[in-house]
Amino acid sequence: MPKITIDNKEIEFKPGQTIIQAGHNAGIDIAHFCYHPAMSVSGNCRICLVEIEKMPKLTIACSTPATEGMVVYTKSEKVIHAQNAVMEFLLINHPLDCPICDEAGECKLQDYAYKYSVGVSRFDEMKNEKDKRVSLGPNVMFDQERCISCSRCIRFCDEIAKNPQLTFVERGDHVTIETFPGEELDNPYSMNVIEICPVGALTSKEFRFKSRVWEMSFTDSVCPGCSRGCNSIIGVRNNKILRIEPRENLEVNDYWLCDWGRLNTIKNVNDENIRINSPKIKLHEDSLDTEELIDVNWDEAVSKAASHLKKYESNEIMFIASAFSTLEDNYALKKFAGEIFGGNRIFYVPFTDNAFGDDILRKPDMTPNSNGLKLLGIKELDGEILTELKSGKIKVLYVLNADVSMIPESESFLKHIESVILQISYRDNYSKNANVIFPVSTYAEINGTFVNFQNRIQRLNPAVATLEQERLIGEFQLSRWDKMGAHNDRWTHGTKFNSRPGWKILKQVAKVLGYEFNFANSEEVFIELCSGIPGLNGYDYDTIGTTGIIAGTNVMAETN
Ligand code: SF4
Ligand code: FES
Repeated sequence: MPKITIDNKEIEFKPGQTIIQAGHNAGIDIAHFCYHPAMSVSGNCRICLVEIEKMPKLTIACSTPATEGMVVYTKSEKVIHAQNAVMEFLLINHPLDCPICDEAGECKLQDYAYKYSVGVSRFDEMKNEKDKRVSLGPNVMFDQERCISCSRCIRFCDEIAKNPQLTFVERGDHVTIETFPGEELDNPYSMNVIEICPVGALTSKEFRFKSRVWEMSFTDSVCPGCSRGCNSIIGVRNNKILRIEPRENLEVNDYWLCDWGRLNTIKNVNDENIRINSPKIKLHEDSLDTEELIDVNWDEAVSKAASHLKKYESNEIMFIASAFSTLEDNYALKKFAGEIFGGNRIFYVPFTDNAFGDDILRKPDMTPNSNGLKLLGIKELDGEILTELKSGKIKVLYVLNADVSMIPESESFLKHIESVILQISYRDNYSKNANVIFPVSTYAEINGTFVNFQNRIQRLNPAVATLEQERLIGEFQLSRWDKMGAHNDRWTHGTKFNSRPGWKILKQVAKVLGYEFNFANSEEVFIELCSGIPGLNGYDYDTIGTTGIIAGTNVMAETN
């Protein structure tokens, strides 16, 4: 490999790399605003100027190819002078409204003002005034004064979203960004411009003015919006999700998230009106029509569920798994069905929408874990299962995270069903008819794993605390993974939902039925399930790491 020397450190680079890329690969960060590793080089901000031996002038590192034997300085007197000058120039018309800017605390311009600027301005004239509230589209607001004209947002729309909706207009210090006449910044990926904007010029209408970033906690997660499983970061304040941002994973989602994923996966988790917030049982058991469900404590709901199950023969009970739930929850349901009721009457209902899929990130399979179910050997609803359901032999449904009324031909078999036990997070069309409902924690409240369309096992971490976690903290019973989040004192604020992980509810019902499941936390469920799958034996949560791991390829095939 050819070599280049940056700041007296000799490093290897791949032919074709620029100085900034060679430095980045070797852990040397060269200042940059307009450069972005996923987009073309525009070379307009000039903060990346470096000194190269035998070259008379400073050169921008983002567009200059590294060559064998090149010697580069990023901290020489000349470079520091140039960086100071660029910062002074960029700050001439910048409003310096950091105290009211959403970006403050995570702003590149603010950081670089400390790092590369002298801290004094020689400019006493009036700053240019521009429009501070320009709605560019349904999700993005633009502050013209803060823009440093790096063109990242324009290039993102052209090159990544494949939707050229933004452009520069005017010249000199009047230059600004606009949408093309009659157009809005409205494409399925529009909100990515918010994170790639190196200043606070582009802000989220959803998140604007809700919190300073230093008052929030941030937790690595995975979007449950489709089978891509984009890596994300959940931002929480007072135990409420305020925003979801992309987390870099070049194997899965590069640097991006779709707008649908980041907006819709917040609403449901936070929404007290649709969350189930207490275990419930039906007041008048004998009446199939009554909609009276009363709140009970967990023990009462668990014993009620167990007594329902005891009344029926094993072959009268059908279990419905869910591609919206984790490997751990589905494994526990399969174990529950198999070990206690001695059969394989378990299936799941796929959920696909071809109109949702595209060639960028979004997949038509709108569930995050259908490959996880295949890995566990849980099959999709098919004609054979439907015939069994419709035959009238099945009297009980035990359901994980599914709206029973959405199952194809549900009307034809629900009339035979005498008892329904639901483990769900949200009210749905059918839940008012259930006999027992257990509120199950959402993806943002648990440790767990999804398997994406590439068969990559990826980790969920609890970003929002539940009453259950609060109780476990009090009893010093948290797992090592729960502890990581629980020590964050922001968890002690805000309302908490009364929900539990799906595997734990199943363990509790199993115990009342006389069966002891040995796992005590989600990682132990994961280890147990992996021990039964060739290629995964010996996996634990450390094996998965922060960016996931492809499951044994001999086990699974790529789908959707
Ligand atoms: Fe979520 Fe899929 Fe959108 Fe990625 S592409 S953010 S996984 S919905
Ligand atoms: Fe090189 Fe902007 S990062 S010119």
